[in-house]
Amino acid sequence: MRDEKFKDVKLGVNLDHIATIREARKAQEPDPVQAALLAELGGADGITVHLRGDRRHIKERDVELLRRTVKTMLNVEMSATDEMVDIALRVLPNQVTLVPERREEITTEGGLDVVLQGEFIKPVITKLTAAEIAVSIFVDPEPEQIRACAKLGVSAVELNTAKYAEGKDPEKELKILEKTAKLASKLGLRVLAGHGLNYWNVREIVAIDEIEELNIGHAIVSRAVYVGLREAVAEMKALLRR
Ligand code: PXP
Repeated sequence: MRDEKFKDVKLGVNLDHIATIREARKAQEPDPVQAALLAELGGADGITVHLRGDRRHIKERDVELLRRTVKTMLNVEMSATDEMVDIALRVLPNQVTLVPERREEITTEGGLDVVLQGEFIKPVITKLTAAEIAVSIFVDPEPEQIRACAKLGVSAVELNTAKYAEGKDPEKELKILEKTAKLASKLGLRVLAGHGLNYWNVREIVAIDEIEELNIGHAIVSRAVYVGLREAVAEMKALLRR
C-alpha cells in the first residue's frame, strides 16, 4: 500500500458559478444541487459552496438541499458572522471554511487575517467544533497566519493559491506555498489549498506532498460549458494523481 502522504490529492468542486449563471436570470436553472450530483459522478471528493452575506449566487435553499443530497462531503465557505454561524449550526455541513468577505469584491480577495482576528473568530470555532463541524480557515501562505490557526485548534488550513495562479513569479510563490504547507503539517493541521487553480497550473501544486485537498471552482465550471460537468471534473481529477 502506498504511504498516506503519497495518496492522490482530493478534489473539492466549488459550484458557486453554477448558481451565478442561475442568478443571471433569477431563474431555476442551472441548479447547483443537480450539478453536485454530476460532479460526484465525475469523481469529486467533496462539494464546496460559498454562502455570501449578499446571497449573490448560493442561497440558503441550495445549502439545505445539498446537505440532504451530497454523498461525499459538504464544505460551506462563510464569513464568521452570527448569521452564518446560526445557518451552519442548523444545516450541519461536514466542514465550514472561514473566509473574509467584502461586499464589493468579485471573489474572495485574500486570506482571513487570523493574526488580527483570532480572538474574534475563537468563539465561532468553539461553536462549530462543538457541533462536530470540521473548521478550516482560508489563509494567505504566511508562517504567522499558520501559527495563529494552529493556536486556535482548527482542523485544517486552506492555503490561498491566488498569487501563484496570477503567474507573476510562480516559482517564488510555489516555494512559499511549499514552506507554509510543511509548517502547517508539522503543526498538525490538514493542508488544503485553492483559488485560481486550473488545468494548466495545478500539477505543480499537486507536487507539494503535504497538500491533501484542493478546492477548484471557476476553471471546472468554465470547462463544463464545453465538455459537460462530469467530464470537466473527471479531467481535473486525473490531474490530481500522484
Ligand atoms: N477557495 C476559496 C476559499 C474560495 O473563496 C474560492 C473561490 O470561491 C476557491 C477556493 C475556488 O477558487 P476558483 O473559483 O478560482 O477555483
